[in-house]
Amino acid sequence: MQNELLTANRLIPLRIGEVECHVPENSSLLRCFEYLRLYPISMGGFCWNADCRTCEVTVRTACSSEQKVLSCQTPVTEGMAIVGMTDKLKFCLRTLTK
Ligand code: FES
Repeated sequence: MQNELLTANRLIPLRIGEVECHVPENSSLLRCFEYLRLYPISMGGFCWNADCRTCEVTVRTACSSEQKVLSCQTPVTEGMAIVGMTDKLKFCLRTLTK
């Protein structure tokens, strides 16, 4: 997944709280957050490999009820909504979700 942003052909909608965003398809959710807020996420001390669990989010998709996932390990899908996240992610994305 190192170069996933470089290979994305289009942006797809992703709802984060009350905010509608557009993010690169075929990317992990954490990479999408980095796309939206580069500096806070890239400098946020995330492990990116399922060790720290500080990237956990609660997602809702069209075909499933809410579930907690690691954003570094979960690909974005069209129509996905982020309905909860860790305090660390809230801090990193605070300018987006206000
Ligand atoms: S960034 Fe550490 S578990 Fe996802």
